[in-house]
Amino acid sequence: MKKKKFSYAQNKPFTLDVKPGKYAWCSCGESRKQPFCDGNHEETGMYPVVVTITEEQTVHWCGCKSSENAPFCDGTHQKFIDA
Ligand code: FES
Repeated sequence: MKKKKFSYAQNKPFTLDVKPGKYAWCSCGESRKQPFCDGNHEETGMYPVVVTITEEQTVHWCGCKSSENAPFCDGTHQKFIDA
């Protein structure tokens, strides 16, 4: 198992009920408004992933920032242990 450490993200998904709209998912792990971007990526060289949600639903946003299906959890976090 690998260790992963971000300032504000986590090694499990953020499960949220969301309404239709555009969402900017934090890909760098430094946002204080997880799982969404707050602009804190400036010095990381990374950018948010913007997705449009078309209907009200429960979304499992990736918290480990390693999903192959970002911004959604695909179970990749199970390879990591909390650092
Ligand atoms: S939190 Fe599940 S793949 Fe990232």
